[in-house]
Formats: sequence, structure tokens, C-alpha cells
Amino acid sequence: MADEPLVLGIETSCDETGVGVVRGHTLLADAVASSVDDHARYGGVVPEIASRAHLEAMIPTIERALADAGVAPTDLDAVAVTAGPGLAGALLVGVSAAKAYAYALGTPLYGVNHLASHVCVDQLEHGPLPRPTMALLVSGGHSSLLLAPDITADVRPLGATIDDAAGEAFDKVARVLGLGFPGGPAIDRLARDGAPDAIRFPRGLTGPRDAPYDFSFSGLKTAVARWVEARRNAGEDVPVADVAASFQEAVTDVLTRKAVRACREEGVDHLMIGGGVAANSRLRAMAEERCAAAGLILRVPRPGLCTDNGAMVAALGAEMVARGRAPSGLDLPADSSLPVTHPHVPEALAHAPGRP
Ligand code: KG4
Ligand code: ZN
Repeated sequence: MADEPLVLGIETSCDETGVGVVRGHTLLADAVASSVDDHARYGGVVPEIASRAHLEAMIPTIERALADAGVAPTDLDAVAVTAGPGLAGALLVGVSAAKAYAYALGTPLYGVNHLASHVCVDQLEHGPLPRPTMALLVSGGHSSLLLAPDITADVRPLGATIDDAAGEAFDKVARVLGLGFPGGPAIDRLARDGAPDAIRFPRGLTGPRDAPYDFSFSGLKTAVARWVEARRNAGEDVPVADVAASFQEAVTDVLTRKAVRACREEGVDHLMIGGGVAANSRLRAMAEERCAAAGLILRVPRPGLCTDNGAMVAALGAEMVARGRAPSGLDLPADSSLPVTHPHVPEALAHAPGRP
């Protein structure tokens, strides 16, 4: 092995077939094939369609990533793959491909956690993560505040959503507004033409007696739906750009407020933001302002590395190798509900009682 491990990363937890190649903290290739257009007419990801699309895209996307990186499969030091959480059938495609490559090449296999990968990817852009890392993780399935003394072995959830994830709220509100799927990018675009203070939507779980680091977005989603319905019932035009901007403002206000507070109370001097919703332009701008005001360093990867990709999996795999973590066995299971507290699935854990 050269000084830094050369790792292939495979991501298939949802509708993106992502394959990345990294050497240590350096990104060499990031190939993504998305089946999002196949799901759009159903208004959400259809698991079986996603699995089939992964099957078709898997080998070509791996070959493209290796060609882009200019490396031969035999150069690889390890193969990393998302073992969970995610859609079971979709995960299985990536896990099976990763096993086949690891077995054929005789390299170690690392089954890693999708959520920890969303955090670790920032090493490709901003260098080694500080320890501990404070991360706000906001995606289609999760919204959490994580304190990670070591992203390869010790990830502690400080709080999480008690109902809808932030991305899920974006997708549902977009549907109410007739903006199609996925909703996040559509709301982000439309909100640029709207006034964020046009409508004061509720900020969930921000009362003095509420859990300081948990999130709730379902009340906000319902409030938006009711507001829109009332206008429609009254025969009035719905100012969609204002609704989008005001909804987006409510989400980003709560997320950044709680994240900055967590940093202050835990004595951490930086904030990392990861996951698909971290691509949101208003969240990025508000986080920038509030971190600057609080004297915090903000680390947020470029939008293409926030949404699902294989580079993030390779980044966490490389960190596993660098820190000497135990690889997974070739009987690694896909675990659709892998907890965030398990950054990877070493052989022993895969066989622990109670885990599939
Ligand atoms: O991390 P991700 O790509 O997949 C999951 O692991 O869930 O996140 C997808 C979510 C979707 O809900 C999508 O609407 C949201 O991220 N998203 C955005 C933006 N881009 C993607 N939400 C708000 N603004 C965006 N620009
Ligand atoms: Zn994700």
C-alpha cells in the first residue's frame, strides 16, 4: 500500500448508484448514475425500480469511476460499501457488487454506515475532520445532530427528528405546491423569487421546555398544507414562491439555531453539515451567517458531495483503513436500519445476536 489507502466506495442505499475512488483524503473519481427520473411520475422513490436501476448501472458506473481515477482494480487497497441504512433491496445490489470485487481482488471489504459517510465526505474537501466533530446531518430519511469523537468508531446522537426528516418535509411540501419530485431542489430554486418573511410558519420543538436537539417538521408541513388549502378554497391564487421561501426559512432557522446551540454547549468550535438538504442554498447561507456570528468554523461540502454519492463511502472506507479498523466479512449483511452509532459493520458485529 502507498502512504494513503486507495479505496473504491459503492453507494446504493436509495436512488443514486454512486461509485467513488479516493486516496486517503484525495478525491480521484465520483461517478453517479441516478434513477430519479424513473421515480418522478410516482412522486417518490419506488424501491423495486431503484433496485433494478442499480443492477443495470452498477458495473458501468464502477468501470467509469475506475477509468476517471486512472486506476486499475488491482491497484485498490480496499472496497467500501454502504451496508445501511437505506432500502433493503437497493442496498443488496451494492453490497453484492462490493463483495464480488473484494473477493476477486483479495482486498478487505468495509461495510460502512451511510450517515457517517455523509459526515466523512467533508475530509475530501476541507481536510481531516476535527475531533470531536459536531455534525448536523440532514437528508431525505434523517435529521440528526451528531457528536463524533471518532467518525470511524464513536458517533453519538445528541438529538434527531421525532417525525419527518428535513428532506422529507421539503419533498412533501413540494408535492402540496405541485412542484414534482424530488422537492428539495425545486423549493430551493423557487424560493429565490419569494419573500422568506411573507408567512410566519411554526418553528417546531423550539419552546423552552422542548428537547433542545430534537427536531419536528410534521407540524410545519401540515401548517403549510392548511395555509395553501385555505387560499385555494377561498379561490385565491397561492403565492408559491413566498410559501416556498417561508417554509424553507422555517426549516433552516430551526436547524441552524439548534446546531449552533449544540456547538456552544458542547464546547466545539466548528459545525459540519452533511446530507442532501445541506445542498440547500438558504441553509448554507444562514449557517454561514450564524456560525460567523457565534465564532464557529463552518464545514459544508460542495452540493454535489452533500447528495448521495460513492465518494463519501470511499472517504469513510479510507478512514477505516487508515485507523486500522477491522474489515467486514464476506458474509456482510445489508442492514436497512443500521443505527447511526455503528459507523461500520466489522465481522464480529455482523454476527452479533439480534442483528440480521
Ligand atoms: O442525502 P440524500 O441525497 O439521500 C438520503 O440519504 O436521503 O438526501 C435527499 C434529500 C431529498 O429529500 C431532497 O429533496 C433533499 O435531500 N435535497 C434538498 C436539496 N437537494 C436535495 N433539500 C433542500 N434543498 C436542496 N437544494
Ligand atoms: Zn444520503
